[in-house]
Amino acid sequence: MADSKRTISIGVFDSGIGGLTVVKKIREKIPQAAVVYLGDTARVPYGTKSEETIKRFAREDAAFLIEKGVDLIVVACNTASSVALGYLKREFMNMPIFGVVEPGVKMAAEISEEKHIGIIGTIATIKSHAHKKALENRGITTVFEKACPLFVPLAEEGFTEGKIPELIAEHYLRDIKNRVDTIILGCTHYPILMNVIRNVVGEDIRLIDPAKAVADEVYEFLKSTDSLPEEGRGSLDLYLTDIPPHYHSLLNIFLGFTPDTIEKVDLKEISSC
Ligand code: DGL
Repeated sequence: MADSKRTISIGVFDSGIGGLTVVKKIREKIPQAAVVYLGDTARVPYGTKSEETIKRFAREDAAFLIEKGVDLIVVACNTASSVALGYLKREFMNMPIFGVVEPGVKMAAEISEEKHIGIIGTIATIKSHAHKKALENRGITTVFEKACPLFVPLAEEGFTEGKIPELIAEHYLRDIKNRVDTIILGCTHYPILMNVIRNVVGEDIRLIDPAKAVADEVYEFLKSTDSLPEEGRGSLDLYLTDIPPHYHSLLNIFLGFTPDTIEKVDLKEISSC
């Protein structure tokens, strides 16, 4: 690991801008860190793509961050974490790589009283059964999975309150909500819809945002390897594979503050690494 006197550099990648919900939690927990974020905005969404394609994209994303000199990588994208984490760890054996599935599952398993747990996510995430398998490894077998693909465009369009998102949330969640006491928000975009989801499922169901859990895990890792930076302001450098016309409003929805730098990048240049 890096010398703790220099600022630790945390690489974070996502299929798009949604992973900034994870960056926010990392910045809250480790404000002195330098965060390098890659959003693959040219190829989002990953959640509707095949396993083979998601793995290839995730490999290119991780290779880019390694080129940028990061000390560790957080796979903020639930889809890439569900489908490609093991593959990435084998491909880049010397790089500490953290996904969002295990931390979210661990938190849900600890918090749930009845051990009846729901997972909501993209089509690829749900199809992978990554959360279900991780819960079963912890002895939790009453698991309900539901893909909620329309939540991603709703969050990106800023439909975060009112009748339209509530009708869609009701459609997706009406079966699951009577069967579980805890739901894992297994997609970077879903914390943006927290209030809508809360209105539909009621107050008694625990909603788990894995972003906080992964930020805690990274913090503990840095502490245990004596790599927590002691001082410094920290920074956020944003790399996007496309600058979409509405990226200002997306940054506002998902981050709420302006990054130090924003740059468009072409992953093809490093894809042969
Ligand atoms: N970032 C993705 C996730 O967390 C959601 C968007 C997509 O489908 O790529 O699963």
